[in-house]
Amino acid sequence: MMYITRRERFTAAHRLYRPEWSDEKNTEVFGGCANPNWHGHNYEIFVTVKGEVNEELGYVMNLKDLSKILKEHVISKMDHRNLNLDVDFLKDVMTSTENVAIKIWEQIEGPIAELGIQLHCVKIAETENNYVEYYGKQ
Ligand code: NI
Repeated sequence: MMYITRRERFTAAHRLYRPEWSDEKNTEVFGGCANPNWHGHNYEIFVTVKGEVNEELGYVMNLKDLSKILKEHVISKMDHRNLNLDVDFLKDVMTSTENVAIKIWEQIEGPIAELGIQLHCVKIAETENNYVEYYGKQ
């Protein structure tokens, strides 16, 4: 089994908060991420797929095809957007990196499967120091 990964990047604003909580409590729990006037991140997304190496082609899948799927279903909807307000598949979702990874997985799993390839991991780095990895429902 071979695992191959494509990296894409996007820049977006978001805010972590629970509307039913006071600003004080949101700041206490979510820190700077609760800033009422939003804040932004330069996100990096690493999408790993797995499969056998196609003997004729020498690769698992054409990474250009994976990049195209990511651009169409993820990057074009998230880049330079506000994740809380602008992204249809994040409506009513707490825009933590964990939840964003789950929702991105849901967006791309089908299109990747249509190519006969299996999605393995969606990794998102929100900052240089923090990243999450989602391997689907286990
Ligand atoms: Ni944040």
